[in-house]
Amino acid sequence: MSEPRENFSSRIGFILAAAGSAVGIGNLVGFPVNAAKNGGGAFLIMYAIFVFLICLPVMIAEMAVGRKTAKEPVGAYKTLSGNSSLWGAAGLLGVLTPFMIAVFYMVITVWILGYLVLTITGNLEYLASDGFGEFINSPYLFLAMAVVAAVVNFILVAGVKDGIEKAAKILMPSLFVMLIIMVIFVLSLDNAFAGVKFFIIPDISKITPSVVNGALSQAFFSLSLGMGILITYGSYINRQTNIPSSAKLVAITDTGVAFVAGLMILPAVFSFNPNIVPSELSDSSVSLIFTFLPKIFLALQSSIGYFGASAIAALFFLLVFFAAITSLVSIIEVPVSYLVTEKKHTRKKALSILLMTAGILTIFATVSFGMVAFFTEFTTYAGGTKSFFDVVYDIFYDTILPLNGFLLCVFVSYRWKKNKLSEELALGNDGYIGSWVEKYINFSLGTFIPAIVLIIFINTVAQKFFAVSLFGF
Ligand code: TRP
Repeated sequence: MSEPRENFSSRIGFILAAAGSAVGIGNLVGFPVNAAKNGGGAFLIMYAIFVFLICLPVMIAEMAVGRKTAKEPVGAYKTLSGNSSLWGAAGLLGVLTPFMIAVFYMVITVWILGYLVLTITGNLEYLASDGFGEFINSPYLFLAMAVVAAVVNFILVAGVKDGIEKAAKILMPSLFVMLIIMVIFVLSLDNAFAGVKFFIIPDISKITPSVVNGALSQAFFSLSLGMGILITYGSYINRQTNIPSSAKLVAITDTGVAFVAGLMILPAVFSFNPNIVPSELSDSSVSLIFTFLPKIFLALQSSIGYFGASAIAALFFLLVFFAAITSLVSIIEVPVSYLVTEKKHTRKKALSILLMTAGILTIFATVSFGMVAFFTEFTTYAGGTKSFFDVVYDIFYDTILPLNGFLLCVFVSYRWKKNKLSEELALGNDGYIGSWVEKYINFSLGTFIPAIVLIIFINTVAQKFFAVSLFGF
C-alpha cells in the first residue's frame, strides 16, 4: 500500500512555493544587469512579453500534467502515454536534469552561505579585495556544504505541507521585506537615479537577435521551466485550484522580484561609480555577486562606516541565501518524489540516497576550481578547457532545459492531447473551456512555442559545444 499523496494545504502556499523555486540568484543579480546592458526599458517590455506569451503556457501545461497524474516527471509521462518507453525516457531526463542542476546550484548556495558568514564575521574587506579566488579553494567550504545539506534535509524530510510549504511561507515574505529595505536604502544613495535611468529608459537600438535569444532563455530558466519542478509541485495541488490563475501569480511574482531587484542593484552600482558604462559589467551572475558586489558594499563604508557596510552586505547575502534555498529545495524535491513514488522509498531514505549521491558530485564540482586538477581541467570543447562544474552547467542548465521544454509541449499537444489538457485546466476554473485563454494555450503549445524552444536548443548546442553561431545570433 502506498501512502496517500501529500498536498499543499492552501493555494497561497503552493504559489509561494512555486515562486520560491523560480526566484533565485538570476532574478536578483543576473536579470537587472542584463536588462541595463541590453536596452533597459525595451528589454523589460520584451522580457514581460516572453514571460506571458511564451513561458506561461508551458508553466500551465507542466502544472496540469502534474496534477492530472499526481506524479513526478517519470510517472507522469508514463501514465499519460500508456507506458510508452520513449516518453518514459523523456520523463527520466526530466528527473536527471534537476538532479544535476541541484549539484551546481548547491555549489553556488554554499558560496553564498560562506559570504554571509564572512561578512557577518567582519571580513567584507577581504571579500572586496579579490578574496574570491582564495575563497573558492577554502577547506571551510565543506563545512558550509554540510550545513546547506542539513538545511535542505531538514525542510524536505518534513514533507510537502510541513516542509516545503512552511519554508516558503517563512522565507518568501522575509525575502520580500529584505528586498524592499535594500531598495529604500540604496535609492537614498548619491547618484542612485543614474542607475534607475539605465534600467528603465528604453534603448531599442540595443535589441539584437542575440539579446532576444538571451531574454527568452532567461525568462524560461527563471520560471523553473523544463526542470520537472512544476510537474512535481503540480502533483501536490487539489482539483479546486485554478491552475492558469495560480501560474499567472507565480510568473508575476518572479518577474516582479526581478524588476524590483533592478532598483536595488543598479543604483548601488552607479553610486559606486557614476561613470560606469553598463556594457562593461560582467555577463555572469557569479562574477557579479562574488567579486563585484562586495566592492560596492565596501564602498558604503565612507558614508555608513565599516560596520554599517557589513550589515548591508550581510542583509543582501541573507536575502540571496533565502532565494537560493527555496530554489534548491524545489529542485531536489523532483528526484525525491521520483524515489518515493516510483521506487517506493520513504522520504527519509530517498533524501539520504540523494544527499549522498548529489553530495559526492557536489564535492567534485566544488574542487573543480583549482583544488583538484582532474576536475579543474576535466575536458575540452569549443576550444576551451572546461571544469567539471562547467560541464554540468553547460549540459544541464544551458542545454537540456530547452529540450525538456520542447518535449513537454510536444507531449502535451500530440500525445496527451489538447482536449485532455483543457479538461484538466477547466477544473477549478469555470468558463475556461471556450475562452480565448484556452484557445491561445492550445494553439501556442502545439505550434510556435515548441518551434522557438527547439531553435534555442539547437543554437545553444551549436554555440556551446561547437563554437559556431547559427541563425545569426
Ligand atoms: N530563477 C532561478 C535563478 O534565477 C533559476 C531557477 C529556477 C533555479 N528554478 C530553479 C535554479 C531551481 C535552481 C533550482 O537562479
